[in-house]
Amino acid sequence: MKALIWHKNGKTEVVRKEIPKIQDSRDAIVKVKLSSICTSDLHIIHGSVPRAIPETVLGHEFVGEVVQLGDAIKNIKIGDRVAVNCETFCGECFFCKKGFINNCEKGGWELGCTIDGCHAEYVRVPFADTGLTKLPKNVSYENALFVGDILSSGYFGAKMCEIQEEDSIAIIGAGPVGLCAMMCAKYLGAKNVIAIDINENRLNIAKKEKLANYFINPNKTDVETEIKKLTNNHGADGVIECAGGINTFEMSWKIARANAIVAIVAMYEQNQTLPLPQMYGKNLTFKTGGVDAVHCKELLDLISQDKISTDFLITHRIHMDNIEQGYRIFKNKDCLKIAIGFYED
Ligand SMILES: NC(=O)c1ccc[n+]([C@@H]2O[C@H](COP(=O)([O-])OP(=O)(O)OC[C@H]3O[C@@H](n4cnc5c(N)ncnc54)[C@H](O)[C@@H]3O)[C@@H](O)[C@H]2O)c1
Ligand SMILES: [Zn+2]
Ligand SMILES: [Zn+2]
Repeated sequence: MKALIWHKNGKTEVVRKEIPKIQDSRDAIVKVKLSSICTSDLHIIHGSVPRAIPETVLGHEFVGEVVQLGDAIKNIKIGDRVAVNCETFCGECFFCKKGFINNCEKGGWELGCTIDGCHAEYVRVPFADTGLTKLPKNVSYENALFVGDILSSGYFGAKMCEIQEEDSIAIIGAGPVGLCAMMCAKYLGAKNVIAIDINENRLNIAKKEKLANYFINPNKTDVETEIKKLTNNHGADGVIECAGGINTFEMSWKIARANAIVAIVAMYEQNQTLPLPQMYGKNLTFKTGGVDAVHCKELLDLISQDKISTDFLITHRIHMDNIEQGYRIFKNKDCLKIAIGFYED
């Protein structure tokens, strides 16, 4: 089969690989129907993810059809259409029992990072009984493409903010993850969602999709002042940082009101400073994290009931044969998300 791997020198390459085989009774082999590129894949290629192993098949965001199952899997059948969790998790260890699956003692973020991922025709998914979620009948592969990664991450970010009814939640970054966070913050009851991005096109998408009530471009206006105007001079009740830009960590705590929660979803390529003397007395709570993607079933049900939709994120459809072109488009941000498939001409 064809698969995309990355090398330590930052280059990617399409290679031929054996179709993966079942190695454990809890494995499944999934035939990839659609996959997508995540900004975290770019962080891997840049060498910013220390645990990522070079020459591994990239990709951790995908949906597909189950073609083979280990003997221990009882809740999924061959032929099922599934959303795949970007994390593999045993469901039984200390962290899994608490829902902290990103830190599963036997798994975590492995697909496309430490084991072969989804930019291929087939993938071996460990712990398939916890990591695969069957798609509801009325949910298509495209509808479900982002459930296991960026939609889960947006939901995770919004949940971290412990949103209350009257809250104004500021989201830094209106990229795919930020847009998902906006959608989820609204769904979880935020009164006001404030979208912040330097990219006017992306703010316009947030506006068009009615994902936020207010839109701020830091290149045009002072974000702190604007947020104060919108929040009775208090600051945002919760901040979800989905940009990972040069100054966006600093922005995240500056625009937060006293006692707010600042949720860091972005993955930084550089260390960030926490200037405690400057923020002393502000009494902030910081939460950080690789997504604990435990809500796939809930998110699929919301999609099935038409309560949320990520369909607008797909701006490009590209054949697996042209995946490197897809990476170029994604890197240049000439798109929101790319659905990579095995399209017929
Ligand atoms: N926590 C997780 O588990 C998880 C999961 C998926 C992705 N991520 C991370 O989330 C982040 C966002 O992903 P994405 O795909 O949406 O990325 P993206 O790069 O497409 O979006 C980031 C947005 O931030 C904006 N931005 C950059 N600098 C800014 C600034 N100074 N002020 C305001 N806006 C600014 C950009 O214009 C862009 O629209 C990435 O770092 C990614 O690795 C984390
Ligand atoms: Zn990802
Ligand atoms: Zn576990």
